Amino acid sequence: MTDPVLLSSDHGAVRVLTVNRPDKLNALNAATLDALHAAFREAAGDPAVRVVVLTGAGPKAFVAGADIAEMNTLAPVQGRDFALRGQRMMRFVETMPKPVVAMVNGFALGGGLELAMCCHLRIAADTARLGQPEVNLGLIPGFGGSQRLLRLAGRAATLELCLTGAPVDAGRALQLGIVNRVVPAAELEEATMALAQQLAKSAPLALRGVLDCVNHGGECGIEEGLAYEATQFGLMFSTEDMREGTSAFLERRKPDFQGR
Ligand code: COA
Repeated sequence: MTDPVLLSSDHGAVRVLTVNRPDKLNALNAATLDALHAAFREAAGDPAVRVVVLTGAGPKAFVAGADIAEMNTLAPVQGRDFALRGQRMMRFVETMPKPVVAMVNGFALGGGLELAMCCHLRIAADTARLGQPEVNLGLIPGFGGSQRLLRLAGRAATLELCLTGAPVDAGRALQLGIVNRVVPAAELEEATMALAQQLAKSAPLALRGVLDCVNHGGECGIEEGLAYEATQFGLMFSTEDMREGTSAFLERRKPDFQGR
């Protein structure tokens, strides 16, 4: 039997998904894109899961890109479909109702950086290298890289990474705002799980509200974004968690959020 291309394990309310093609540096072929889409749908719909951590198997790579061998023979319409396959999965991740943390344990190149960027937070090992090297293959980013990098790090960084194709190290990625945090490689798992467990204790509906506001607000004008935020803020007053959180503060105790 062949190894599954995606591994899943639960640690309390944190689900860890691991792209599992280490011999191909976890390159994203169609089967892996589909497995990721199915796994994220599952995690989104499972109330026991409050946070997802996404990483790659092996010591070298988060994901070294879309599968070049698989792309090599595609016809134009197939190429477009391959891009749409990846984009749909990554847009699903980006608009998930619960936080997704990318644990960037090595190369995050091309589709790998695109995958990390559709996650809500990124923690990178100090050994990681991140880039959009598609031009070196006569290609351009196809899973949203030109769009998400632009929104995340701005025009200068996007043009530098996408036009030169040269990867940056984790420290530079931090400077550019591409990752949230860089830690020594040996501490990556512990730091990521600590963050994930912290998020898992937070109020799920409030986290969802933040994600919705940022996703919506990133794509509209300030007036519409503010109106949306006010509506979401009002919606929080319908939740038990809001009563629990404010009461716990007033009673000087830790809140116990149930996601209701
Ligand atoms: N697609 C398919 N296979 C890939 C891959 C990708 N994006 N990236 C790595 N691999 C495969 C290699 O072909 C090799 O397979 P093999 O052992 O069967 O020949 C295996 O993974 C190991 O990679 P290798 O290149 O030998 O490792 P390295 O340490 O010498 O180099 C990289 C590491 C990341 C610099 C190099 O693999 C690379 O440049 N990968 C492609 C990055 C890229 O262009 N990504 C964007 C794709 S759109």
